[in-house]
Amino acid sequence: MSKKEFNVAVVGATGAVGRTMLSVLEQRQFPIKNLIPLASERSAGKKIRFAGKEVAVQVLTPDAFEGVDIALFSAGGARSLEFAPEAVKRGAVVVDNSSAFRMDPTVPLVVPEVNPEAVAQHKGIIANPNCSTIVMLVALKPLHDAAVLERVVVSTYQSVSGGGEKAMLQLWQENQSLSEAWRNYSAHESIRDAVALQKVDVSKSQVMAQRIGYNLIPHIDVFQSDGYTKEELKMREESRKIMGLPHLKVSATCVRVPVFMAHSESVTCTFSKSISPQQAHALLKKAAGVDLLDNPQENQYPMPLVYGGRDNVGVGRVRQDPDDANVLHLWVVGDNLRKGAALNAVQIAELL
Ligand SMILES: NC(=O)c1ccc[n+]([C@@H]2O[C@H](COP(=O)([O-])OP(=O)(O)OC[C@H]3O[C@@H](n4cnc5c(N)ncnc54)[C@H](OP(=O)(O)O)[C@@H]3O)[C@@H](O)[C@H]2O)c1
Repeated sequence: MSKKEFNVAVVGATGAVGRTMLSVLEQRQFPIKNLIPLASERSAGKKIRFAGKEVAVQVLTPDAFEGVDIALFSAGGARSLEFAPEAVKRGAVVVDNSSAFRMDPTVPLVVPEVNPEAVAQHKGIIANPNCSTIVMLVALKPLHDAAVLERVVVSTYQSVSGGGEKAMLQLWQENQSLSEAWRNYSAHESIRDAVALQKVDVSKSQVMAQRIGYNLIPHIDVFQSDGYTKEELKMREESRKIMGLPHLKVSATCVRVPVFMAHSESVTCTFSKSISPQQAHALLKKAAGVDLLDNPQENQYPMPLVYGGRDNVGVGRVRQDPDDANVLHLWVVGDNLRKGAALNAVQIAELL
């Protein structure tokens, strides 16, 4: 019997997530009859390589979804709001990477390692969670299965690729200006002046709110009236929905760091009963989508340098709180473009 194949549209195929989506589809040999890459007019006609062939990028229009079975959206919330219903109207199932539909009670929000059963509830659209939320929950779900999760306090260290192509370019350009300045500085006494070095003027392209080269920005997405950013609230609200824990206490601080790939997170979690680090190790070792890398004596712990380009989420630095046996501290790292976006979306399509 021949295997069923699908017509798959990738919306935002020229972007950071879209390009990762294409490579994940290819690597996982997703059964594709026709691939339809869609983007803005800027990219119309541009050729992309997929499965050994060149395919032309088409402009995103409602009619581009005629005959499409699965549409993977990653072109921003405004495009999702406008075009996802058009794709559904034409018979496609949409997996959407933007935040447009995530908190819609009629739309399942899915991490396949956490709540795969939710996919069955879809009415045409399935939402892919925020990248930091996915990375964190893949690590927390196996622990929650052993002792109920009650509270999470998380600080993120998010790479610039989380802000798309333009944010990556900003870091690259700033690095170039800084290298140039370094060459000039090293000829002078001021090489010893760390403050002056840090303040060297760099290029003016500003996609992020501040300079990111040699800096950290505690500001991702827009600030809300309560002082949290939208990114931080996404981690709270989406975690509650995905875990089916509407009263889960979550407080996040999201920080952009000068790293190109992979988001890292320092997670403090309170459970209903004590879990020892040894128990946590045993649970994480057999968990789907997790690499346990916790061997500090050998300098082994997950880092973005290693986890960019990997499918699994790395978990290490597992410690019991010295003052509360029900609290564990973890260090979690995952590729924001793969597990945080493209891979998770393709896994959802595989569940379909
Ligand atoms: N980056 C991440 O880690 C991450 C993680 C999870 C979710 N997401 C979400 O995924 C989406 C894309 O993010 P990204 O990082 O890939 O951004 P990106 O690199 O800036 O890419 C944006 C994509 O959207 C397309 N696009 C923009 N305006 C369009 C329009 N008017 N009509 C059609 N296509 C249009 C662009 O096409 P052109 O090349 O033609 O401009 C490009 O393909 C966003 O909703 C983001 O929130 C991103």
